Amino acid sequence: MTATKPEVLMIAGARPNFMKIAAVASAMHDDGRLRGTILHTGQHYDREMSDLFFEQLKIPEPEIRLGVGSGSHASQTAEIMIRLEPVLLERRPAVVLVVGDVNSTIASALVAVKLGIPVAHVEAGLRSFDRSMPEEINRVLTDAISTWLFVSERSGLTHLAAEGVGADKIHFTGNVMIDTLMRCRERAAALGTPGKMGLRANGYAVMTLHRPSNVDEAQRLEAMLEPIREVSREMPVIFPVHPRTRKMLTGLGADEGEDLRLTEPLGYLEFLGLMSEARLVLTDSGGIQEETTVLGVPCVTLRENTERPVTITEGTNHLAGTSAAGIREAIRAALGAGSGSRIPELWDGRAAERIVAILASELGATGL
Ligand code: UD1
Repeated sequence: MTATKPEVLMIAGARPNFMKIAAVASAMHDDGRLRGTILHTGQHYDREMSDLFFEQLKIPEPEIRLGVGSGSHASQTAEIMIRLEPVLLERRPAVVLVVGDVNSTIASALVAVKLGIPVAHVEAGLRSFDRSMPEEINRVLTDAISTWLFVSERSGLTHLAAEGVGADKIHFTGNVMIDTLMRCRERAAALGTPGKMGLRANGYAVMTLHRPSNVDEAQRLEAMLEPIREVSREMPVIFPVHPRTRKMLTGLGADEGEDLRLTEPLGYLEFLGLMSEARLVLTDSGGIQEETTVLGVPCVTLRENTERPVTITEGTNHLAGTSAAGIREAIRAALGAGSGSRIPELWDGRAAERIVAILASELGATGL
């Protein structure tokens, strides 16, 4: 019987994809009308960047692994396309579902649409309007070729309408990353990660940095770290280091009076536990801006722009820019801000359920 269900092939590639796929895969399983399968491109492959997330989030084992690994943008994107095409030709899924804005997202969407297989894009419509960001290119192009565009915050509706995307393709369904956060919060708290690291609740900061524009140039990175070092004289700053950033940080340590602690990348649950009890989060990640908004933890975003404006208008996010002065100012504002933040519309833990219901209905799936 299950063989008659339409197959939705879900593409997972890089770390921020996994929390999103976890929510969609689980909702698809619960709904029962579609056959969800997972393909892992291999864009991220270290255990702590990939398999650990599958284990902690209980994501089903991928049926297909392309094993592409790292490379330049062109070679990584091309390699995914070359290896994915025969898989799609053989399986002919009803839909290819992609999430987020990484190279695996655009590469897979492009292969699918040229084979006449419709694409569903989860987290559509976000725009930083900064085309020097590889992710912005990936977002604009993926949205342009998708049949179903699932939007996480209202700004996405405005952007897609402005780009001429038909209203019938656009669905405001909420934020699947927050579905996963809500589902995992208690398990994360139960691990007691801050205590195990000798940290007091509300008495430390957490930082992540991995954007090429921030970390690929040693001098720029060092300049950005100055105000962070100042924070680390007031409270410990825990800094799990992304592999891209690690290359630039060899030799970096804490100076006299500073408490800047570099760690390996952490698992999802450990990191969520750490963020939940932090006094302050400093980041250039997209997803962390959203997670801190829901956790009500002050966030300073170390970028010139954000594609997630609702985290500023309703959440706890403060956009710092990348100059030392801007970062200092944003840290002051974030630490001084009251705890008031609203949970954005439809960030209610049920976004994936809505997405699956729409897909099942559009595909005429009955579950039989
Ligand atoms: C990618 C995404 C970015 C996302 C980030 C989350 C693109 C264009 N970028 O950036 O949007 O925010 O993932 O982490 O898709 N590496 C390892 N082990 C791994 C993976 C990567 O050591 O498991 C190293 C390699 O040296 C690699 C570098 O990290 O060259 C960068 O990896 P890559 O996937 O190309 O980009 P990210 O910076 O991780």
